[in-house]
Amino acid sequence: MSKLWAGRTAGITEKLADDFNSSISFDSRMYKQDIEGSIAHAAMLSKAGIITPEEKEELTEGLKGILSDLSDGSLEISPDAEDIHMFVEEELTKRIGDTGKKLHTARSRNDQVALDMRLYLREKTDIISGEIKDLLEALTDKAEEYKDFVMPGYTHLQRAQPVTFGHYLMAYAQMFIRDMQRLSDCRKRINVSPIGSCALAGTTYDTDRFFEAGLLGFDSVCDNSMDGVSDRDFCVELLSVISMIMMHLSRLAEEFILWSGLEFRFIELSDGYTTGSSIMPQKRNPDMAELVRGKSGRVFGDLMGILTVFKGLPLSYNKDMQEDKEGVFDAVDTVEMCLKIFKGMIRTMKANRENMASAAKEGFLNATDLADYLVSKGMPFRSAYKICGEITARCIEEGKTLEDLDINVYKGYSPLFDEDLYGVIDIKACAERRTSYGGTSVGSVELQIKKVRDFLSDAG
Ligand code: ARG
Repeated sequence: MSKLWAGRTAGITEKLADDFNSSISFDSRMYKQDIEGSIAHAAMLSKAGIITPEEKEELTEGLKGILSDLSDGSLEISPDAEDIHMFVEEELTKRIGDTGKKLHTARSRNDQVALDMRLYLREKTDIISGEIKDLLEALTDKAEEYKDFVMPGYTHLQRAQPVTFGHYLMAYAQMFIRDMQRLSDCRKRINVSPIGSCALAGTTYDTDRFFEAGLLGFDSVCDNSMDGVSDRDFCVELLSVISMIMMHLSRLAEEFILWSGLEFRFIELSDGYTTGSSIMPQKRNPDMAELVRGKSGRVFGDLMGILTVFKGLPLSYNKDMQEDKEGVFDAVDTVEMCLKIFKGMIRTMKANRENMASAAKEGFLNATDLADYLVSKGMPFRSAYKICGEITARCIEEGKTLEDLDINVYKGYSPLFDEDLYGVIDIKACAERRTSYGGTSVGSVELQIKKVRDFLSDAG
C-alpha cells in the first residue's frame, strides 16, 4: 500500500508488514484527542504566521466535520489506516484538499502520539478518580449503617480482637483515599504538553508551544524535546497507581469471597452480583469478586509489560513505543469496570449482625481486655498477660469462654479480680471501649466517616 510517508522509500510495503506495523485497531480510541490536538495545532500555526487565518479556518472546519462524523457514526475509521494520526490527516486532505497537507507543519507523529496519550489518559484519570469517589461514598454509607456490628478482627487470619464492621470498611476507605491522592499527583505529570517537540529536536519554525499547550488545558510544557517524544513515565506511573487500586480491590474481594461463604456467613452479596452454578442448585457464587481478584493479576501484567518495553530503549522515539498502548488501555478499562462493579456490590450487600457477633464470642477475643483489667487494678502488663494466658488455656481445656468462668475461679488466679470484670470482657464493650484515635469504637468510626466525607466534599 502506498503511504503518506512515501519518499525515500517507495512506501510500498508487504500486506503482512502493514498489518504488523498498524496500530489503528487500538489507537483509534484516541480519535477525539487526536482531532482536538490538531485543531489547537492549526490555531498555533496561524498565530505564529505559519499558515493564514483562512487556512486555519479551513483546517478547523474540516477537523470538526471529521470529529462529528466519527462521533455520530457516519464516518468509519478505516482498518487499513496505519494509525489514527494518518487516518485523520488523510481524511482531512480528502475533504479540504491541499490545505490539509499543511497541518503537519512543525509537528511529527512522535510528539503527536505523546500528546494524544496524555490527553486521553488525563481524561481517564479523572474518570477513574470519579469512580473511586463513588466507591468511597458507598463504603462510608455502609460503614455508617454497620458501625456497631461487632465482628472478629483478625491477625494471621486468627481471631484477634473484636472490631466493628464499620471500622473494617473504613480501613478500605483509607486505601482508596490514598489512591485518589496518588491519581491526582500522577495527573500533574500527565498534564505536561509534549507538542512542539516535533520529531525529537524541536523545530526551526517560530512556534509557540506555550500557546498550544494552553489551548489544550495543559499546566506546563515539557522542557526538553527529546524527553518530550520519548517519555512514557506517566503511563508507567498511572499503571502503578492502577495496580495499587487493583491490589486494594483484590484484598477486599478476597474477604468478601471468604465472608459470604458458609464458613463465615458474615455478609450476603446480592443476587445482582452473584451467579448460580449450572449443576449445583444450592450455589450462589461470588463471581464478580473473584473476577476482580483475577483481573488484578492481569493489570499487574500490564505494568510489567510497559516497564519491560521501555527498559533499555535508547532515546528518542522508537517504534517499540507503540507497544505502550494496549496494556495501558487494558488497565484503565479494567480498573474502571472493577470499581463500578464493587460500588454496586457494596451498595447491595448485607451484613449479618448475629453471625458476626457469634463468631466474635468464640476465640478469646477479649483476652487482651482481661489482661488490661488486671493492669487497671495495678498489675504490670507482662504479669497480667501471663495469668490471662493460663486462664485462657484452662478455658480451652474445659470448653468454656472467659465469660463462663466463675468469679471464684478468677480469684484463685489473682485477688485483683472482682465481679466488674464481666462488664469489661463483654465483647461489645471491648469494641466500644477502644476509643483511641482511629480505633474501633462507634464514636471513633463516626469520626473516621466524617473525615472521609469531608475529604470527598473537598474533592468536589
Ligand atoms: N502509531 C505510532 C505509535 O503509536 C505513532 C507514532 C509513529 N511515529 C513514527 N515515527 N513512526 O507510536
